[in-house]
Amino acid sequence: MKKNIFFLLIFPASFYNYTPCIPQDLAKPIEEFRDYENNVPERVREFYLQNHTHQTLNFVLAQKKKYYPLAQMRMSIWQAMEKLDAIIDESDPDLESAQTVHAFQTAERLRADGHPRWLILTGLIHDLGKVLILFGEPQWAVVGDTFPVGCAYSDKIVYPNYFSNNADMNNRKLQTQFGIYQPHCGLDKVHMSWGHDEYLYQVVKRYLPQEASYIIRYHSFYAAHKEGAYDYLMDEYDQEMMPWVKLFNNYDLYSKSSEPVNVSELMPFYQELVAEFFPTDLKW
Ligand SMILES: [Fe+2]
Ligand SMILES: [Fe+2]
Repeated sequence: MKKNIFFLLIFPASFYNYTPCIPQDLAKPIEEFRDYENNVPERVREFYLQNHTHQTLNFVLAQKKKYYPLAQMRMSIWQAMEKLDAIIDESDPDLESAQTVHAFQTAERLRADGHPRWLILTGLIHDLGKVLILFGEPQWAVVGDTFPVGCAYSDKIVYPNYFSNNADMNNRKLQTQFGIYQPHCGLDKVHMSWGHDEYLYQVVKRYLPQEASYIIRYHSFYAAHKEGAYDYLMDEYDQEMMPWVKLFNNYDLYSKSSEPVNVSELMPFYQELVAEFFPTDLKW
């Protein structure tokens, strides 16, 4: 058994025998998920206009300075989970239910497909960084797809024309293919637009396997994991890790259904799982 766990931790998803299973009982047809063209709620378009206008290199650097020290508060994973329920994600065209329902649904789908405990845990906690909204951050600085700043914005990013008012568009140095980066420098050296992915990564990285941390850090980077953009910034480590993000995305996206979850029935399993990896008190 020990040997199996070791195997799962060191090999990327491409070597990994589980086939991501797309649930049959989806709330809507698969092609209707992440549809940003047809019947898009006005809140989603408005969200991306704000997001693409304000996410500049300087903004990201300022947010890192503010949040990297993890000096906002101390709380447990479960306290953060409780806070998550007060949040509505304005960027998401597919999600109507509460954030904690999405957390349990993602984790339960992973569990039903027999994935290892660390990956089920990743499903449960992956959106906890959205507590940034409760620290006073606007939605455009917390949720939505993420993308590199400091180099040209890819046309694979959702609503690329919304970047027209972004201040970095006026800085030619920041709008070349590589911008401030070197070819294949690795995403760890790339500043991503600020949001719940990077923030939660900073909070939990010391407690989780590297695959879990990587999934959390890049799960909203759809231009890369769904559209294949920005491979010229990635290094070997990214190539090795990105299959995990792709695998995870099937669960993050397609678990969004109206199927109810019985949280009190599930709690004993998840309390034990969280306690296996995390102390009761974390710095946020
Ligand atoms: Fe997310
Ligand atoms: Fe999610």
